[in-house]
Amino acid sequence: MKITIIGTGYVGLVTGACLAEIGNDVFCLDVDPRKIDILNAGGVPIHEPGLQELIARNRAAGRIQFSTDVAASVAHGDVQFIAVGTPPDEDGSADLQYVIAAARAIGKHMTGFKVVVDKSTVPVGTAARVQAAIREELSARGVSATFSVVSNPEFLKEGAAVDDFMRPDRIVLGCDDDALGQKAREMVKRLYAPFNRNHERTLYMDVRSAEFTKYAANAMLATRISFMNELANLADCVGADIEAVRRGIGSDPRIGYDFLYSGCGYGGSCFPKDVQALIRTADENEQRLHILEAVEAVNENQKQVLVRKIVKRLGNDLSGKRFAVWGLAFKPNTDDMRAAPSRPIIAELLARGASIVAHDPVSMEEARRVFALDFADQPDALSRITYVDEPRKALAGADALVIVTEWKAFKSPDFAYVKAQLKTPLIFDGRNLYDPSTVAEQGIEYFGIGRSETTFSQEGSVNVVA
Ligand SMILES: NC(=O)c1ccc[n+]([C@@H]2O[C@H](COP(=O)([O-])OP(=O)(O)OC[C@H]3O[C@@H](n4cnc5c(N)ncnc54)[C@H](O)[C@@H]3O)[C@@H](O)[C@H]2O)c1
Repeated sequence: MKITIIGTGYVGLVTGACLAEIGNDVFCLDVDPRKIDILNAGGVPIHEPGLQELIARNRAAGRIQFSTDVAASVAHGDVQFIAVGTPPDEDGSADLQYVIAAARAIGKHMTGFKVVVDKSTVPVGTAARVQAAIREELSARGVSATFSVVSNPEFLKEGAAVDDFMRPDRIVLGCDDDALGQKAREMVKRLYAPFNRNHERTLYMDVRSAEFTKYAANAMLATRISFMNELANLADCVGADIEAVRRGIGSDPRIGYDFLYSGCGYGGSCFPKDVQALIRTADENEQRLHILEAVEAVNENQKQVLVRKIVKRLGNDLSGKRFAVWGLAFKPNTDDMRAAPSRPIIAELLARGASIVAHDPVSMEEARRVFALDFADQPDALSRITYVDEPRKALAGADALVIVTEWKAFKSPDFAYVKAQLKTPLIFDGRNLYDPSTVAEQGIEYFGIGRSETTFSQEGSVNVVA
């Protein structure tokens, strides 16, 4: 099929590459010429495992092209995917300006029937707005071409996006009930048929329910994380180990093990903004989502839990102290720094006078760009962040090691080496990567999240402060 993808970011690029891989003729459009230039030069503007090879193979086969040419993109695809960003507006609601601009572009240029697929995460009712925008453009041109807008939210996870797209748990498809809606449904059904060969994964529903499903899924996942983080903070006070508790409750099949890890808060481009947007949708409908308001508040608090532990151990004034920070991206296997907990954590350490030596396996270039913006008016703070190309290089002479992202490469360090390099043997582990007693045996004081306020003396004797 001839497919157009509008927006070649994390979702659009993966969608385009995967649809090309199963034999479709894909046109990827972006308004950012820098991204298109990188792609046309054989590069990939984001880090996503397996994506580079997928794009290279399909480019070579002539199944995927990249362009900023809007008219050509509308002419190309019978199916037009909208995969542009929906960042939070000032009030937390989803900013739909890019979605509506994409819809208008379709309306401005289309001549025949189009299926318009909302793949961006958009609030309930957005398909109707997309439809109205296209209709307005068509009537301004005096053209009567037909179209149908369907909702097909995306559930891929950054860091495993290609696998998730190729082997989806489910495909949610919301279509209108009218004849054009049925026609659109059949076309999208045909497009996704290769993903349903093993068993049917598509869940058909009305458009509004499909839009809502995406927010409900992210809200549930964020809730599990905040729930565990809140319990972890209590575990710290009462002398329990949240990791033991996690295993204890995860073994119940009604609960399950996934998304029960406590840590230094969730981030990324989805959970924070989607939770906020759903709260705003409720607001607009004169409802309150009390649970999600708490989920958000707990997460905001959680991003400072590590700093509070550092301050409790090392004092309020951290000037002259140096911290080795392992991990900057909001999660492993991505370079995405959007709403990454590393940002408020590093900001707070810098505000208290500390300096940072940071390492991340793939996000350092993006981190440099993001921190330059975050600290644009604080050149002194910015100058106190340095980056090193190997984790071990961050350690020498540091007052503590701070773990912010759970990259595999950080999971089994040589603790004797870590201890020898650090000025004071302290680890603040924001992702509970290590077993506290293993670290203690090395004579390193260890602070995890919800592992109880347990300090380990250099001789390895355990000292529980409940
Ligand atoms: N990133 C994820 O893990 C993920 C997962 C599921 C759903 N989503 C949702 O998918 C949507 C896209 O997210 P993303 O992370 O891929 O965003 P992104 O910021 O990485 O990419 C969006 C792209 O759209 C381009 N763009 C903006 N306006 C355009 C226009 N009018 N025409 C053409 N291109 C345009 C931008 O230049 C950018 O390259 C969001 O709604 C997001 O919530 C994201």
